[in-house]
Amino acid sequence: PGARVSTIRHMDRRCRVCGGELREFVDLGRQPTANGFLRPDETDGEYFFRLAAAACADCAMAQLVDEVPQERRYHGGYRYHASGSAGHRKHFEENALRLLETELAGPDPFVVEIGCNDGVMLSTIARAGVRHLGVEPSANVAELARAKGVEVLTEFFDERTAAGVRARHGAADVVFGANTICHIAHVASVFRGIDALLAPGGVFVFEEPYLGTVVERTAFDQIYDEHVFYFSVTSVRAMARRFGFELVDAERIPLHGGEIRYTLARPGARVPSPAVEELLAEERERGLSEPGTLDRFRGRVERIRDELVALLRDLRAQGRRVVGYGAPGKSTTVTNYCGIGPDLIPFVCDSTPSKQGHLVPGSHLPVRPPEAFADPYPDYAVLFAWNHADEIMAKERAFRESGGRWILYVPEVRIV
Ligand code: SAM
Ligand code: TMP
Ligand code: ZN
Repeated sequence: PGARVSTIRHMDRRCRVCGGELREFVDLGRQPTANGFLRPDETDGEYFFRLAAAACADCAMAQLVDEVPQERRYHGGYRYHASGSAGHRKHFEENALRLLETELAGPDPFVVEIGCNDGVMLSTIARAGVRHLGVEPSANVAELARAKGVEVLTEFFDERTAAGVRARHGAADVVFGANTICHIAHVASVFRGIDALLAPGGVFVFEEPYLGTVVERTAFDQIYDEHVFYFSVTSVRAMARRFGFELVDAERIPLHGGEIRYTLARPGARVPSPAVEELLAEERERGLSEPGTLDRFRGRVERIRDELVALLRDLRAQGRRVVGYGAPGKSTTVTNYCGIGPDLIPFVCDSTPSKQGHLVPGSHLPVRPPEAFADPYPDYAVLFAWNHADEIMAKERAFRESGGRWILYVPEVRIV
């Protein structure tokens, strides 16, 4: 695939993993923090930054160019509640049960979860009576986890926190993270912390959005302030090596539209699964790390924006009622990048109580409870929570039966 070199911007900022040169591949414009939901009286002085992603020319790691300080992203008012969907609850319960049967089956095991959020995973571990600790800087969700019997340290994970945990609790058999490791910009400190904390035969397991899925499905709405990194097997293997670990397994999982669960161990401690080489070969064949691939991704992103905006304007001109369904972080990226305001989508409904009565950051679409959806049903609903499509479409079957239609924009704009 031929790179259109003229479109690549060479950045001053260096790769957060290896210090290599960053090449920008997409610019989603001026954006607020994705979960910075506002009360209607809080819109003055809203925080914005430039949301652009780049890939490292040396280690291939895809990452944000500019970043938002972590204290502005994770705090006592963090809106994302991991237990918010039945699919997530089931997935993380299964994860916990699997760990209990495998890595945590020895005598007096200990597991640390980085970013345990509301305890969606650790609550199952706690019920099994297994020693555990969640490290979760967002005090409000940490409190929800404690209410489920989960032990939580309200801190950002880094080498200092890890040393404290090690001193108080001893070595961990498993350090786990889900949809969290890609959020942490201080990656070298995280790995020094893992090194200090992990038992010699222990594993560091993390599951995160997959660059391969983002590119293949043109899921550009996965790009937002919290997702500092966009991992691939290629870039994670390089990162593991750089920080003294070995990638021993990589497994595709269906969460958030398609993720990968990575397992890292100390070099030579485990026999690597053939899945690692298989996925590496697949990434090479697809040219996932090549500038031309990322360039074409940008072209598709721009087309989705143009088609979605044209469709919504057209429906408005025809006098059709259109609302949004779900206010995930992804909806902030799409609505701000496309310039979709309440004139095109008067409100979105979302089941998260702390988002209701608030505005989507930047685009200021009002968020209402799910009951507003049927009161009365709109003609069209833009499914921002598209990764929960099966669950939502099943729950809202009556909407389609009443003649309503869903609008999807990933992997392309279509009405179903
Ligand atoms: N693990 C859950 C899941 O997969 O649904 C929650 C993921 S949530 C998107 C990311 C979580 O990581 C947030 O609860 C946030 O507060 C936490 N987090 C962010 N930076 C962190 C850090 N440096 N150390 C520990 N947790 C962090
Ligand atoms: P997520 O994609 O980051 O998990 O966020 C999904 C959002 O969609 C979250 O704000 C909750 C919302 N949601 C609903 O409103 N109704 C539903 O049935 C589901 C599954 C999610
Ligand atoms: Zn790099």
